[in-house]
Amino acid sequence: MTNTKIIKRKHTTRLIGLICAGIIGLTAASQAAQTSKAAQPYTLDNIRNYIVGIDEPVELEDGTKTTAINFDNAATTPALQPVVDEVTEKLKMYGAIGRSVSQKASYSTDVCSEVRGKVLDFVNADKDKYTCIYVNNTTDGLNKLASALVTDKSDIILTTRMEHHSNDLPWRERCQVIYAEVDELGRVRYDELEEKLKTNKVKYVSVTAASNVTGYVTDVHRIAAMAHQYGAMIIVDGAQIVAHRAFSMAGETPEEDIDFFVFSAHKMYSPFGGGAVVGRTDVLKDHMPQMYGGGTIDIVSDYKQVYTTAPGKYEPGSPNYPGIVGLGKAIDILREIGFDKIQEHEQALNRKLIDGLLDLGMKVYGDTQDISDRVGVVTFNDEHTNSALLAGKLSRMGGVATRRGAFCSHPYVWRLLGVSDDTVMTYEGCAEPKTPGMIRVSFGIYNTEEEVDRFLEILPKAIEEVKQDLAKNPLDAPEEY
Ligand code: ALA
Repeated sequence: MTNTKIIKRKHTTRLIGLICAGIIGLTAASQAAQTSKAAQPYTLDNIRNYIVGIDEPVELEDGTKTTAINFDNAATTPALQPVVDEVTEKLKMYGAIGRSVSQKASYSTDVCSEVRGKVLDFVNADKDKYTCIYVNNTTDGLNKLASALVTDKSDIILTTRMEHHSNDLPWRERCQVIYAEVDELGRVRYDELEEKLKTNKVKYVSVTAASNVTGYVTDVHRIAAMAHQYGAMIIVDGAQIVAHRAFSMAGETPEEDIDFFVFSAHKMYSPFGGGAVVGRTDVLKDHMPQMYGGGTIDIVSDYKQVYTTAPGKYEPGSPNYPGIVGLGKAIDILREIGFDKIQEHEQALNRKLIDGLLDLGMKVYGDTQDISDRVGVVTFNDEHTNSALLAGKLSRMGGVATRRGAFCSHPYVWRLLGVSDDTVMTYEGCAEPKTPGMIRVSFGIYNTEEEVDRFLEILPKAIEEVKQDLAKNPLDAPEEY
C-alpha cells in the first residue's frame, strides 16, 4: 500500500469516525431534547410544539402553500405528540385485555383499569358510586345508555332544543321525547325544564354540558337538582366540555350530583377513538345495552347465559387499547395545563373574534355581550354571502378550517337562523349549499390571538372574492336564503 493510499484511508477512517460521532452526538442531543421536552410541564405557551401537524402546509387555490389555521376543534381535535408517543410506547406491551394471563395481556389489562380510575378522577366521580365504561365516542355512549335505560316505549325523556343529534335521536327512536325551548339568545330555558318536569312523569333528563353551536355551558347541576326533585335522573352529554372546562359529577349538594356523563377522547387531542360513560353503578348493574358478545358474560351453556356486571356487560368485544391509552394521556396533559388557564385563554379568543366579526358587520349568533358562559365556539354569517361558498373560500384562499352547516344540531340551528320548522323538510340535505347554515369557528388549546387576527384579515377578502365569483358566474351560485 502506498503512503498516499494509507493517508487517504486514514482520512476516510477519520471522516467516518467523525460522521459516526456526529450522528451519535446528534442522536444523544435529540434524545436529550426529547427527554427535556418530556420533562417540561405542558403549558398554553408551549403546547403548539406538541400538536401533530401544526406546521404541515396545505395547498391553496392559487397553488401556493400555507400553514393552516385550524378553527374546527369542536368537530375533532388534532393529536398531541405525547399522546401518540404514549400509545406507541404502551403498544409494545399490548395483549388480550381481560382475556388471557400472559405478561402482555396482564399489562394491558392493568393499563385499562388504571385509566378507568383516571377517568373517574378527571370528572370528580366517587369510585364507590360510579363506574367508568369505555365507549367508542359520545354517540356510541349515548346510544348504549339509551338502549340500556329505556325499558318501555312510553318512557319519557326530557331534553332541550339545544342538543346535538346524538343526544336527541337515540331517545326519539326508542321512547317519548319532550323538549325545553331555548330563549331568544339561544340559552336553555330552565323555567321550561322545571315546568316540564312538574307536568310529566319524566324518567331521564338528558342535556348537553356545552353547545357545539353557541358554546353555551349548561348549568347541569341546577338541572340535576330539578330532575331529582321530580324523581328523574340526569344524563349529561359531555362531548363539548371535556377539553374546555373542568367537570364534576359531584354537585354542591347530593341532589346536584350527575347520574351519567358521556364524552369522547377525539375531542381532547387523542384521535384514536375511545371515550367513556361515567355512570351510577347501582343503576348500570340493573340494565344492559342491546349489544351482546364476548366480554359481556360470566358463563354460557347451550341455551342459557349469565351476563356479567358493569362495566363488562356494557363493553362487548375487545377494548380499543390505543383509544384508552390515548385518553389517559390526554387527561394528564389537560389537567397539567389547567382548566382555569384554558378557560381564560378561550374567553380572550372569543372576545377578540366576536368583536372583530361585529366590526366587520357579521351576524354573530348567541350572546355577544356576556360571553362568560360560552366555551370557545363562535358561529356567524355574512348575511349577504352564502355560508357554504364562504367557508369553502376561507379554506381555499386562506387555509382556514371552519365548519359550515347546521352542525348535527339542526333544530337548534333552525331556531337561531329563524328558519321555520314547516319549511325545514323542503330543503335538500344539510350539506347542500342551498340549505341554510352558519359558519363555525371553534378553538383548541393551541389557537392564538395572532390566528384570530389573520382570520379577521382574510375574511373580508374571502367575502369579496365570493361576491366576484358570483357576479361572474351567477348561474352556478346557490340561492340566497
Ligand atoms: N358534533 C361535532 C361537531 O359539532 C362533530 O362538529
